Amino acid sequence: MRSAWMLLACCCVVLSAMEGLSRDFCLQNLNSSVKPGFPKTIKTNDPGVLKAARHTVERFNNCTNDIFLFKESHVNRALVQIVKGLKYMLDMEIGRTTCKKTSHASLDDCDFQTNRTLTQTFCCYSEVWVVPWLHKFSVPVLLCH
Ligand SMILES: *[C@@H]1O[C@H](CO)[C@@H](O)[C@H](O)[C@H]1NC(C)=O
Ligand SMILES: *[C@@H]1O[C@H](CO)[C@@H](O)[C@H](O)[C@H]1NC(C)=O
Ligand SMILES: *[C@@H]1O[C@H](CO)[C@@H](O)[C@H](O)[C@H]1NC(C)=O
Repeated sequence: MRSAWMLLACCCVVLSAMEGLSRDFCLQNLNSSVKPGFPKTIKTNDPGVLKAARHTVERFNNCTNDIFLFKESHVNRALVQIVKGLKYMLDMEIGRTTCKKTSHASLDDCDFQTNRTLTQTFCCYSEVWVVPWLHKFSVPVLLCH
C-alpha cells in the first residue's frame, strides 16, 4: 500500500512537470495491468545487461568522431526497471579498440588498444530501453566522461 502511494507521488510529480497531462491520466496510467516497478539491482554478467552494454557502445560509436571503435570493458553496476519492457541503467567503462570504424568489424573481434598513446577509457552512464517482444531497443541516455 505504501509503495503504491510512493509510486503515485512519483508519477504525479513527473507528469505535472509535463504539459497537457492531467491528474486523471496519472491515475488511469497507474491502474493499467502492467505496473511499472522500482529499479532493481541486477548481476553485471546477466545476458540482458551485456546486451544493453553492447547497445550502449554501438550508440557511442555512432555518435562520436573517433577513428576507432570503442567497446565495453567493464560493467560496474546495473539496475533494471520494468517499464513497458525493460529499462537498464548501467554504470560502465568503455575502451578504445584497434578496429577502425571504417573496417566495419564486429566488436567481438576487436581487441583493446595496447599502444599507450592510443589507449582511452571513458566511464559512462547509460539507460537502455528494451522491448523484447517487439525486438526493439533504444538508448535514450548516454553520458560519458
Ligand atoms: C482499475 O482496474 C480494475 C481492474 O482492471 C477495475 O476494476 C477498476 O475499475 C479500475 N479503476 C479505475 C479507477 O479505473
Ligand atoms: C547512427 O546515426 C545515424 C545518424 O546520426 C542514425 O540515422 C542511425 O540510425 C544510427 N544508428 C544506430 C545503430 O544508432
Ligand atoms: C603508437 O601510436 C602512435 C600514434 O599512432 C605511433 O606514432 C607509435 O608508433 C605507436 N607505437 C607503437 C609501439 O606501436
